[in-house]
Amino acid sequence: MKEIAPGVFYCGLHDRNRKLFDQLVPLPQGTTYNSYLVEGAEKRALIDTMYEKLLGPYCDMIAARGAKIDYIVSNHAEPDHSGAIPTLLKTYPEAVVLCSPKCAENLVNMLGVDPSRIRAVADGEEVSLGGRTLKFIMAPWVHWPDTMFTHLVEDNFLFSCDYFGAHYTDNELFADCSENLAEAAKRYYSEIMMPFRGFCAKYLGLARAMNPKMILPSHGPVYDRPEFIMNLYAEWVSDKFARKVVMPYVSMYDNTRIMVDYLENALRSRGITVVRAELIGADEGEIAMQLIDAPCVVFGTSMVLTGPHPKSVYAAYLINILRPKLKYFGVIGSYGWGGSLSAPIEACFKLARPEKIPGVEVKGRPVGETFRALDDFAARIDEKISAL
Ligand code: FEO
Repeated sequence: MKEIAPGVFYCGLHDRNRKLFDQLVPLPQGTTYNSYLVEGAEKRALIDTMYEKLLGPYCDMIAARGAKIDYIVSNHAEPDHSGAIPTLLKTYPEAVVLCSPKCAENLVNMLGVDPSRIRAVADGEEVSLGGRTLKFIMAPWVHWPDTMFTHLVEDNFLFSCDYFGAHYTDNELFADCSENLAEAAKRYYSEIMMPFRGFCAKYLGLARAMNPKMILPSHGPVYDRPEFIMNLYAEWVSDKFARKVVMPYVSMYDNTRIMVDYLENALRSRGITVVRAELIGADEGEIAMQLIDAPCVVFGTSMVLTGPHPKSVYAAYLINILRPKLKYFGVIGSYGWGGSLSAPIEACFKLARPEKIPGVEVKGRPVGETFRALDDFAARIDEKISAL
């Protein structure tokens, strides 16, 4: 347990060996599950708890600090933060869980928490610890509907739950504000928060208005210089686009790859940055990060039977659920005898609604006509993104 300020302690744990989050998101350096202990003159509160798999060391750490916990604040019910609650409630029979009404429902449904041990709080409600006040701020959809923030009023510390988090284990406690941290926070934003960009922008405004002395998220370091992470979020939630095209591609016999190469050069010659992502063995997080400011995605895909390669459909599905601020998409590729490369990809876009720029599909090898069509396609993309 590390002291952040007098009576405020970090009791999170590092999980450096974890490779995936949600069995989907790669974790290049693992993650941390952050929990905080706040002590007032009369009461003691935990703010968020621990993933169940680290229950033993976590409970030992809490017990070593004293025998009494009055409140367990659950800012969000996802088990990486709430997994220890059932055990804590047994260990501390006087403890009451404070959370949003939606979180109360989730704790009962997901973890079997006894409803009589939960007290749902309202937006703006305050609880005194004796000389210290916890104020609860409902903040749904960053990234679950149950999320709330907790403000430690006198210290002006903002416990922001997953919002402002990062899967980053290099720091022991306070943010190093390095390029590596910025990259990890960007990856986290793109994977977890980007689908809720409007809410992120709203809560960024709220956080700025509070001018917190520290931001204490549920993953990654504590920001004792909060402007670092708030400035990054301001960039990511903005409506601005880079002059960039992201190209996820998969090529079975090089024909599609030749088309991707050609289009890349054609776009680059127009001053457009091209980010290629070979889909075999791709890191979804890298693609997600590139989507934060990309106005256009072009899928390069071979045909498998009568449709696009399943890897490209997976990429389209993933992009759809990540809901970037994407404006345009297109499809290029080669096929053997027939079918449609673009229709199944287009069908994936149910949430994100990018406009289709008709691409280039060629039977067999790309030839002179194909390359002229790719030049025209590059010109159409240039025209569209230049108008943004
Ligand atoms: Fe880190 Fe949504 O839990």
